[in-house]
Amino acid sequence: MAGTRAQRLRVIVLGNEKGGSGKSTVAMHIAIALVKANKCVASLDLDTRQRSFTHYLENRRAWAQRRDRELEAPEHLSLDEVINRGDEAAAARALADTVAGLEQSHDFLIIDTPGHDNALMRQAHVLADTVITPLNDSFVDFDVLGTVDPETFAVTGASHYAAIVAEALQKRRLAGYPVTDWIVLQELSQTLKFRFIDGLAERVIFREFYPRGLTAFDDLDETTLGTRPTLSHVTARQEVENLINAMQLEDAAVIGQTAEPSRDAA
Ligand SMILES: Nc1ncnc2c1ncn2[C@@H]1O[C@H](COP(=O)(O)OP(=O)(O)OP(=O)(O)O)[C@@H](O)[C@H]1O
Ligand SMILES: [Mg+2]
Repeated sequence: MAGTRAQRLRVIVLGNEKGGSGKSTVAMHIAIALVKANKCVASLDLDTRQRSFTHYLENRRAWAQRRDRELEAPEHLSLDEVINRGDEAAAARALADTVAGLEQSHDFLIIDTPGHDNALMRQAHVLADTVITPLNDSFVDFDVLGTVDPETFAVTGASHYAAIVAEALQKRRLAGYPVTDWIVLQELSQTLKFRFIDGLAERVIFREFYPRGLTAFDDLDETTLGTRPTLSHVTARQEVENLINAMQLEDAAVIGQTAEPSRDAA
């Protein structure tokens, strides 16, 4: 089949033009969950201004040292230098080369994107096998995806971001790549052809994790957490576990993989 990639790698892109919707938080949780599941995981932060995903991982390394605890992490890659040079074509090539270079060696690449439109973020969406769009719990946020009729709440149109995803899907189709699985972490879907799953509830605990680089998957003991574990930690973990199971990343990885189906049996 022309254009079909006989690859091991599954590219997961966090995208949403709405700032502060939880992209970096979810990117971190997925990355750590997959590393803990013994997957070979690389990560990339395309938000070169905020660098939250990168800082989150740096915080994790520093916290691990401070607590004298091993905290596993993905192989974090950086395209900051080429991106900051401002040569869009060179940055695009670097992104394509990075993905190509991981295709046979890694199981997952988690890419966090900035909350605004740019060429690299669009390209990441074309390369994505899975796009995950976190939304907050309101119609204000749904506006990022489409417009809603005020009387019926029916979806009446697609947004700028939905158009970016649609264009990326079209490019993939033309290239003969498998259809992207577009997952929205909220409740309104249907017409825009994504599937929705429950997102994370608003919990203080997720904000507290960031400065220590921790996730809901880390050991819930006092040495690791730096505070006493609470029911809230347990609930948060359950929530992220549900989220990751609903993403079916494992199934997707197996489907995306054409050779060595028993790779994970070792
Ligand atoms: N489930 C949650 N409950 C409470 N706070 C959360 C949750 N998820 C994320 N946050 C907090 O909300 C803020 C924004 O989250 P995050 O940085 O992950 O969003 P983002 O979409 O990456 O933002 P940006 O578009 O600016 O990159 C952070 O302070 C984060 O700790
Ligand atoms: Mg972010």
